[in-house]
Amino acid sequence: MALRDLTDADTAAAVRNPMTCSRMVLVSRRESFNAAHQLCDPSLSDAENKRLFGKCANLHGHNYVLEVVVAGEIDDATGYVFDLKRLSDVICQRVIQDVDHRNLNTDVAWLNGCIPTAENLALAFWERIRSELPEGLLRSVRLWETDKNWAEVGDPV
Ligand code: NI
Repeated sequence: MALRDLTDADTAAAVRNPMTCSRMVLVSRRESFNAAHQLCDPSLSDAENKRLFGKCANLHGHNYVLEVVVAGEIDDATGYVFDLKRLSDVICQRVIQDVDHRNLNTDVAWLNGCIPTAENLALAFWERIRSELPEGLLRSVRLWETDKNWAEVGDPV
């Protein structure tokens, strides 16, 4: 098919087309928090934790970034898949307010017994956010621990 410029009318027609309207669209909200953690298994010796986790066994902090993606069809009435202010409220109430400026090993009841790796945190956050959203809406939760490291939990498409 030859490439051609879309006219404004082409674009408007595509958006109104029922086939286009039923297309799945992803939207995302990013929130951030600061927290301390240390990677250690309390049942192991200090030496064993040092061997497993290296310097991450020492108490230290991260500026975490949490990206939450929801997916669905665009609501005709609002033009939204989901109101991102509402998504932000859910993320803040279910996760951020409990973890921001906390020690993740000791201060958060729903993380008790969990080694606070990015993987375990992403999984815990996924469960807490999913339970507050309409069934099937949540697509993925990605937690950036540093600029270089993230862990993601998601539902397969
Ligand atoms: Ni760390």
